[in-house]
Amino acid sequence: MSLSEEAIESAKDDALAAISSANSLDAIKEVKAAHVGDKSPIARANQQLGTLTPEERANFGKIIGQAKNVVMVALESRTRILEVERDARVLIEERVDVSIPARRRPKGGLHPLTILTNEICDLFLGMGYRVAEGPELEAEWLNFDALNMPPDHPARSMQDTFFVEPLDSHLVLRTHTSPVQVRTMLEEKPPIYVICPGRTYRADELDATHTPVFSQVEGLVIDKGITMADLKGTLDHFARSIFGPEVKTRLRSSFFPFTEPSAEVDFYFNGRWIEWGGCGMVNPKVLVACGIDPDIYSGFAFGMGLERTLMVRHGITDMHDIVEGDMRFSQSFGTGVK
Ligand code: FA5
Ligand code: MG
Repeated sequence: MSLSEEAIESAKDDALAAISSANSLDAIKEVKAAHVGDKSPIARANQQLGTLTPEERANFGKIIGQAKNVVMVALESRTRILEVERDARVLIEERVDVSIPARRRPKGGLHPLTILTNEICDLFLGMGYRVAEGPELEAEWLNFDALNMPPDHPARSMQDTFFVEPLDSHLVLRTHTSPVQVRTMLEEKPPIYVICPGRTYRADELDATHTPVFSQVEGLVIDKGITMADLKGTLDHFARSIFGPEVKTRLRSSFFPFTEPSAEVDFYFNGRWIEWGGCGMVNPKVLVACGIDPDIYSGFAFGMGLERTLMVRHGITDMHDIVEGDMRFSQSFGTGVK
């Protein structure tokens, strides 16, 4: 391009025409590069200034500068307009219809048995107990022998046991939570105050009041001067918290190899006595087996079935409802399965 006012004027007009017909921010970017970029006519005209006489240079410099200013102002205002349009379009295109019904996933909820377990743990935590746990696949020795049930002891067959192959592994699915007592006493020095909830197994048929996989909660206290009165007071408090303030308990003489004396705990609910679990004073032989001196310490233990507790408290007449996992059962407890 040779330098002339007309040429600069027409470069400016071309630029303004291109700017006003640019319809997107991408297009305006291209227009900017083509009309004011390094290789644009206006830039090239500017580069030619060096070849001119000083007077001409001043004159053309001014003309080119003004042309470029006009183009830059036009570019800026067109860009602004296109940005506003883009923002308005994005607001519409990306609008979220908050009135469309959401697709909800069920968020799940705790099983009533878990809620009961938590409630019992909270109750005992509040009395200074600690929650202890043990494995469901348990050493036969801890499940039986350490609880004063040697292999030939008749009580060992009271609980129908799932043995685990190979038999010389001497592992069983624990038949009760009482081995957690032993584990605790072997690991800790008295005073001991623990509550042990957990799943237990027996080769019982599933019927209205039995299930082969059920839950127990075990309590164990070992301290100086613990008596049967402490056991009875604790069970009364436990029963009242779970079944209501009017509930009464009674101890009925019974036998467990690991407690002496032993008792069944019954409670009086809705006009009848109901068996709740077993309890007693920890047998001194068990204390000795666990390295605790029975001349200094004594203690009590109890073990309750949680399914039966739940059944009585909520008037559930069939064990199947608890174990079959139908969500409508949990929902009827308002457990938040939505
Ligand atoms: C025991 O298991 C003792 N370990 C309890 C114990 C602990 C005694 C500490 C003394 C000191 P028993 O076998 O009675 O005891 O079982 C206790 C409770 O477990 C029963 O009262 C019952 O509520 C529950 N239970 C037992 N078998 C089943 C079953 N198949 N289905 C549902 N619940 C069961
Ligand atoms: Mg029993």
